Amino acid sequence: MSLVEEIDYGTPEAKSGKTVELTIDGMKVKVAQGTSIMRAAMEMGTEIPKLCATDMLDAFGSCRLCLVEIEGRNGTPASCTTPVAEGMVVHTQTPRLKQLRKGVMELYISEHPLECLTCSANGDCELQDMAGAVGLREVRYGYEGKRHPNPGVDASNPYFTFEPSKCIVCSRCVRACEEVQGTFALTIAGRGFGSVVSPGMEESFLDSECVSCGACVQACPTATLNEKSVIEIGTPEHSVVTTCAYCGVGCAFKAEMRGEEIVRMVPYKEGKANRGHSCIKGRFAYGYASHKDRVLNPMIRAKITDPWREVSWDEAINYAASEFRRIQAKYGRGAIGGITSSRCTNEETFLVQKLVRAAFGNNNVDTCARVCHSPTGYGLKTAYGTSAGTQDFDSVEHSDVILVIGANPTDGHPVFGSRMKKRLREGAKLIVIDPRRIDLVRTPHVEAQYHLPLRPGTNVAILTALAHVIVTEGLVDEAFVRERCEWDEFQDWAEFVSDPRHSPEAVASLTGVDPELIRGAARLYATGGNGAIYYGLGVTEHSQGSTTVLAIANLAMATGNIGRPGVGVNPLRGQNNVQGSCDMGSFPHEFPGYRHVAEDTTRALFESLWGRNLDSEPGLRIPNMIDAAIDGSFKGIYIQGEDILQSDPNTQHMVAGLSSMECVVVQDLFLVETANYAHVFLPGSTFLEKNGTFTNAERRIQLVRKVMSPRNGYEDWQITQRLANALGYPMNYTHPREIMDEIATLTPTFANVSFDRIDKMGSVQWPCNDASPDGTPVMHISGFVRGKGKFVRTEYLATEERTGPRFPLLLTTGRILSQYNVGAQTRRTANVMWHDEDSLEIHPFDAEQRGIRDGDWVRVASRAGETTLRAKISDRMALGVVYTTFHHPNTQANVVTTDFSDWATNCPEYKVTAVQVSPSNGPSEWQVEYRKQSTQSRRVEKPLVPAE
Ligand code: SF4
Ligand code: SF4
Ligand code: SF4
Ligand code: FES
Repeated sequence: MSLVEEIDYGTPEAKSGKTVELTIDGMKVKVAQGTSIMRAAMEMGTEIPKLCATDMLDAFGSCRLCLVEIEGRNGTPASCTTPVAEGMVVHTQTPRLKQLRKGVMELYISEHPLECLTCSANGDCELQDMAGAVGLREVRYGYEGKRHPNPGVDASNPYFTFEPSKCIVCSRCVRACEEVQGTFALTIAGRGFGSVVSPGMEESFLDSECVSCGACVQACPTATLNEKSVIEIGTPEHSVVTTCAYCGVGCAFKAEMRGEEIVRMVPYKEGKANRGHSCIKGRFAYGYASHKDRVLNPMIRAKITDPWREVSWDEAINYAASEFRRIQAKYGRGAIGGITSSRCTNEETFLVQKLVRAAFGNNNVDTCARVCHSPTGYGLKTAYGTSAGTQDFDSVEHSDVILVIGANPTDGHPVFGSRMKKRLREGAKLIVIDPRRIDLVRTPHVEAQYHLPLRPGTNVAILTALAHVIVTEGLVDEAFVRERCEWDEFQDWAEFVSDPRHSPEAVASLTGVDPELIRGAARLYATGGNGAIYYGLGVTEHSQGSTTVLAIANLAMATGNIGRPGVGVNPLRGQNNVQGSCDMGSFPHEFPGYRHVAEDTTRALFESLWGRNLDSEPGLRIPNMIDAAIDGSFKGIYIQGEDILQSDPNTQHMVAGLSSMECVVVQDLFLVETANYAHVFLPGSTFLEKNGTFTNAERRIQLVRKVMSPRNGYEDWQITQRLANALGYPMNYTHPREIMDEIATLTPTFANVSFDRIDKMGSVQWPCNDASPDGTPVMHISGFVRGKGKFVRTEYLATEERTGPRFPLLLTTGRILSQYNVGAQTRRTANVMWHDEDSLEIHPFDAEQRGIRDGDWVRVASRAGETTLRAKISDRMALGVVYTTFHHPNTQANVVTTDFSDWATNCPEYKVTAVQVSPSNGPSEWQVEYRKQSTQSRRVEKPLVPAE
């Protein structure tokens, strides 16, 4: 095994379709117009020495090492900043150039600490490499040159150090922070020889605006910015390309290793979702894989009040199987079910639903995607015919207007957020529809043209009002609609939205948004060029989540913003494999590929391959399973990689359901909260320990490659396979590639997908079949998958969750950059330095009225329950709206969320809960107890949530 090396071409690829021919060192070369001489040389295999240039960044031209001679031109221009021209004749190695380069390097080296042998970057340092490349053999000025200002090493960031004495002031870090990440946290302070890189206003990295994306560390050609893990472990000796297991962006990484130890995760430039960028989670927060809390041996117990007993894999699997069979014999075939995980691979998810349908003999399978993006599946399938987003991420580079609703990309989908910010800096216009003033509304060099701070729960009213403006002001793209959509349905919809009750003025008191803002935003979206809509859980997690997705789909069709790069409807998926878990048939009514279980031909296909009669009736969704458990008819569940107790709404109800069951099997990395109610615990494996695929928000299927052996002994799919076999249903896969082959056989949109194809192409976006063998980056180009696009009326119906005198505020929830989901992974990394507890954001006026100061403990109570957490006074909040994250189990935000859910899909209404907030003396008793146990490395023996 060796390191996966990526060529650095020095400057970014030119986008022009025209080519230019020139001669470099006597060889003719054709390259795209606009390419730099440096890149043209590199493309033909000639490396020109460089220090300030790298192909992730625009050329800067500061180090003067890349000089070349061009026939007919005076001087020695920098090859990184000089574009090629037709007929140009370039020389990269002449005696004069050699001399000049040596001279430049002498100056650098004379001022650089001579510590190469003990430097952490020894062997992995571009300064060292360039000294060799220019043939530097002596330094005439000695090595005692004046040093740059050296305030000492800044080790404040938990993941990397900054050692200014090694800095060559190439500005690569500063430019990476600006151009790639878009945070602008770094500057070059001082002038001339006194120049020094400075985070913020000469602060430490930790105290600055830095969001720890790692782009500067990656860009740094010296050891000035270096991963602490490299300093500790040494430079890596082999690497494996794999896919991040955190969010739906799906960043590709090189896991760089020494033996079985990860040295660092380096974002992979060839990764088509991330193009070489990363966020703090994928880049640095992988330490949970080796955290001491990981459970590595199976455990069982007869009652949830008994202590756990470690057992062999055989015993645990056989016990779970015999319990499931006992329950089915006593209570009926439908008394058990399973939950798939959007954190696991496609192959693992596929196997769990197969286990339920074929071995359990029912359709009681559901997924955590239910609680996030199920309305996306429903809405987009209804309107367009496919349950997925329409674009690839590259599409944003062609957008002129970006409408973000109910999403916070800079925190939730940071790498895509950075790409979006880049496009906005280039001039695209931005509309944000969100109750909070999210970062995108105003961030360095980006400012939204419109921010519509609506009251939570009024998405449908706002979107219908936007449609009202578009229709009544004659901004519809009629040619598109006539050609591509059902005309009668459009007319019906147009009549509906034109009704004055849907005007911005009519809905102003309801939504709390100034009608002029709605009118301006509608005009901009409809007339500003390519309009793209990006949305997140702030759209789906509502009682009208599916209606909101339909309203978005209507807007895109009415304005002709569908079917080409730069436009479209783009759900930003939450977890890494939300798209995949839905594609793989995790819902109780659908086989893989979104085909209903009642369809006879489809069922016959699965029956013939799986060798079992399959149920034609849809099974139970998670909330139905819990209700049935409380009623006494549902008694056993297999939960793979999903902490339903923490992630699902109305915690007490969940507690009641889980504790009514006779066999709860939890397969996870840690003793998560749900495991408090488990009878069997099967240790799971991390993404680093398995092979398979994830599908990101762009429908992009990417390989997850095993980087190390599973510490628990098995990959997750192998555990499911063992359980199936113990239940008497044979599964004999030897590698996940065989599972993918089965998926391809059974699923038309995956017909041409295989591990070999993905390996060869790097990734592939479904549909991938004979009609589009290389996949489909942009969907619905010449027609909608369903034929004609379908407009649907979107009548606003207020949620039953109402504010009133007892609960006058609306609580909405979301994520923060450094943490992920319920925090099981990120809380077990140094990321807790940025967010060690959830807090409640509250508007200054609402806080003052209640006598609450910043940092005070407050009690948040709803009709469902209450919790306490610290208040954070913030004018980012709209009046009457409070906000919290849900990353920490000791606050359990879902104790207060209610049972209301989307009318079509049961996706919980997390985003709207009527609450009262009042001062509190501190955490309640169960929270204190929880904290105590957390600090003692939590291996709970008893449930720690408030009793019902
Ligand atoms: S880690 Fe990222 S955000 Fe922080 S300074 Fe470096 S590039 Fe900027
Ligand atoms: S810290 Fe590294 S990237 Fe930044 S200016 Fe110094 S040497 Fe260049
Ligand atoms: S943006 Fe998402 S996929 Fe990419 S590194 Fe961050 S968490 Fe991982
Ligand atoms: S690499 Fe061209 S000037 Fe530095």
